[in-house]
Amino acid sequence: MARRKIIAGNWKMNMTPSQAVALCDTLKDLVVTDEADVVYCVPAIDIIPVVEAVKGTNVEVGAENLYFEDKGAYTGEISAEMLVDAGVKYVIIGHSERRDYFKECDCLLNKKVKQALKAGLIPILCCGESLEQREMGVTMDWIRLQIKSDLTGVTADQVKGMVIAYEPIWAIGTGKTATTEQAQEVCKGIRDCIAEIYDTDTAQAVRIQYGGSVNAGNAAELFAQPDIDGGLVGGASLKADFGKIVNYK
Ligand code: PGA
Repeated sequence: MARRKIIAGNWKMNMTPSQAVALCDTLKDLVVTDEADVVYCVPAIDIIPVVEAVKGTNVEVGAENLYFEDKGAYTGEISAEMLVDAGVKYVIIGHSERRDYFKECDCLLNKKVKQALKAGLIPILCCGESLEQREMGVTMDWIRLQIKSDLTGVTADQVKGMVIAYEPIWAIGTGKTATTEQAQEVCKGIRDCIAEIYDTDTAQAVRIQYGGSVNAGNAAELFAQPDIDGGLVGGASLKADFGKIVNYK
């Protein structure tokens, strides 16, 4: 069975609540499609106004982070239950910016993945290598380690509903996209890794996105690859161009 494409914007730390609502308005008619799931992953403070702004459209809302405990004395954190109650469906976990700037390690990310799944959120689990790792030839070893650690204790059925985003760190925000061949090769490698940990059915069901300088010009070729099921889009998700990426065909 063909996997449904999923094209998600990662707004990062951009858009005040009022700017967020204005962007939803700009994108409203441009992101209409029957062929893919469309998600806006937005800063926590934008979640409630964005959920409201996309009501009645084909857009779902995602968060960019969550905490792994149910509730309690964790000043500044946001729980899975809060996200669900606010109308969130997806949550980005393990973006390289969080791994790097906020020192989130795989054992923490594993807890976050499990917490998201427990609450009924769909994790968009990010992985990817640095330029140094690519040049050392350890890309797939590194990514397999990330995937295996982050999915420890996660069941096959849970993985089937998840999204994994392959984002080479050197391609994020740099305008330097991985070649189509590089992106396909690693996305296939991730699928093979899932088949190895779980089984072929699970590997065929999980959706794997490519992220890193996706734009209106390269989306069609990337998303046409057999193992690339859409994209996680940063910079270009904040512009009208996101409509072209969603309707890439
Ligand atoms: P970019 O970001 O599209 O701006 O490269 C992608 C991401 O970080 O998810």
